[in-house]
Amino acid sequence: MRLSAAFVFLGLVVNAFSQSVDSYVNTEGPIAKAGLLANIGPNGSKAHGAKAGIVIASPSTSNPNYLYTWVRDSSLVFKVLIDQFTSGADTSLRPLIDDFLTAEARLQQTSNPSGTVTSGGLGEPKFNIDGTAFTDPWGRPQRDGPALRATALIAYANWLRANGNTTFVSNTLWPIIKLDLDYVADTWSQSTFDLWEEIDSDSFFTTAVQHRSLREGSILANALGQSSNDYDAEAGNALCFLQTYWNTKYIVSNTGGGRSGIDSNSVLASIHTFDVNAGCDATTFQPCSDKALANLKVYVDSFRSIYGINNGIAPNAAVATGRYPEDVYFGGHPWYLSTFAVAEQLYDALIVWNKQGSLTVTSISLPFFQQFSSDIAPGTYAAGSSQFNSLTSAIRNFADGFIAVNAKYTPSNGALDEQYDRNTGKPTSAVDLTWSYASALTVFSARKGVASPSWGGAGVKVPSTCATTVPVTFNVQATTQLGEDIFLVGSVPALQNWSTDKALLLSAANYPTWSITVNLPANSAVQYKFIRKFNGQVTWESDPNRQVNVPASGTFTENDTWR
Ligand SMILES: *[C@@H]1O[C@H](CO)[C@@H](O)[C@H](O)[C@H]1NC(C)=O
Ligand SMILES: *[C@@H]1O[C@H](CO)[C@@H](O)[C@H](O)[C@H]1NC(C)=O
Ligand SMILES: *[C@@H]1O[C@H](CO)[C@@H](O)[C@H](O)[C@H]1NC(C)=O
Ligand SMILES: *[C@@H]1O[C@H](CO)[C@@H](O)[C@H](O)[C@H]1NC(C)=O
Repeated sequence: MRLSAAFVFLGLVVNAFSQSVDSYVNTEGPIAKAGLLANIGPNGSKAHGAKAGIVIASPSTSNPNYLYTWVRDSSLVFKVLIDQFTSGADTSLRPLIDDFLTAEARLQQTSNPSGTVTSGGLGEPKFNIDGTAFTDPWGRPQRDGPALRATALIAYANWLRANGNTTFVSNTLWPIIKLDLDYVADTWSQSTFDLWEEIDSDSFFTTAVQHRSLREGSILANALGQSSNDYDAEAGNALCFLQTYWNTKYIVSNTGGGRSGIDSNSVLASIHTFDVNAGCDATTFQPCSDKALANLKVYVDSFRSIYGINNGIAPNAAVATGRYPEDVYFGGHPWYLSTFAVAEQLYDALIVWNKQGSLTVTSISLPFFQQFSSDIAPGTYAAGSSQFNSLTSAIRNFADGFIAVNAKYTPSNGALDEQYDRNTGKPTSAVDLTWSYASALTVFSARKGVASPSWGGAGVKVPSTCATTVPVTFNVQATTQLGEDIFLVGSVPALQNWSTDKALLLSAANYPTWSITVNLPANSAVQYKFIRKFNGQVTWESDPNRQVNVPASGTFTENDTWR
């Protein structure tokens, strides 16, 4: 399974190189599919103890212990299987998909430390593999899970509708999807732990997948004759907010955490919100958009000098990439799924350029394209032109290079762990990571020119007026008894219009300081109060209402003591 690195640099053997990538793809594809299925209960050979339809993150039980089910990972994994089923590539998967939706519907109803199904519990990131709540401290909530689960189930719902089974969609699937979409519409503007479970702030990946789920959710609701609630309006607001992650050079993936923000988060967002009909739209950061390509170059380049295994590789050739350059988790090594994601974004871009018969270079994407042609100038190049032909062929070769890097560090049995060592290339951290296998399947499919069904991303527009918001952190000192929690409500929709039912749960991670960060309208005065809930009973703070004067920009921290 090892490819000679020499192939990567020798133009003369480009054909041999692409053939060796072909050969890796042909061998690894079935291994990845089998590895993925082995991690799904009840029959998966490595998923002993997992309930039907439950995806384990990895069979690894110690250092690290990943024998849990994450809503994010499971939804991404099942989106792959649902796409294989609905495209006809594997018609045997239906019982497993039905197990998945049953299992997820149960998890939705399982009360957990984030709350109940109606009070925030849908933001719970992970559960035990028997479907019970995981109750230890964790980075919660993680608000991408419900959006990704809705996206997976909507793909299945669309196929069922097209195949004469609208009854099942309306009666069984829609109520599950609706819970997730209502949660997303209600909470997308609140802070969240990112997909790496480390930073509690705003996360580009989370906002991007939330926006997508609301768009396709609204389309499905209308098709079913169901109310689409405020999905379209909130999708517009989320799209406004999505624009704010762009810093004119790259996507700042997290608003907190004190890092550069250069992160695989952004590349994963681009491939998981790819819509083959959306062209190279930059507002949704489509894979071929100038912003997403400029971002990709900044992201890839950030790993060139920090990993020993990337030493000596030409500055415009593929390298191993990880989650983010500052990463230290498990030693902060390259990840298979991050490196595959780079290739997938490039193959997705090629699909669209070939479909639309042209490729546009802008001043924003110029540095990306100059890697392949130093004298290329901004402009649109039609298919058949020498520029189009040489750029697309170089970019395909560049994309193949990222597969070749992962291939080089894939052991001979084809197993994909989570990471491989930055100096030796030896696989490390969790073995048989289900998400690694899923990422192999999606990149191999994109390499073949196959795109997932469209989600309605074509022609979406950023609303003409976007409300600007400022992240406001509320800290309140409050001692509580066991089982009692502190919540926040206030005078604006982001603070749930004074609704005690929908009040926002604060985190007690720094007890007795309770905290939450909420995006509030910039340059405004917002009234609020804290409330306590204990055994369903609500206790308000004493009058008068509190007020926070939200600045026009930046961030703001309010420090209060329970009153
Ligand atoms: C799991 O195995 C049982 C027993 O052989 C079988 O009845 C069931 O259909 C299998 N489930 C799936 C999803 O294949
Ligand atoms: C509709 O799909 C569900 C889920 O797979 C299945 O259980 C049901 O039998 C289907 N109904 C019809 C009429 O095909
Ligand atoms: C809050 O009130 C505004 C104005 O009445 C309304 O448009 C909005 O939908 C409400 N939002 C929530 C979350 O209740
Ligand atoms: C709240 O405390 C933080 C940290 O001590 C401080 O930076 C901030 O300025 C305080 N906020 C206000 C409004 O005084």
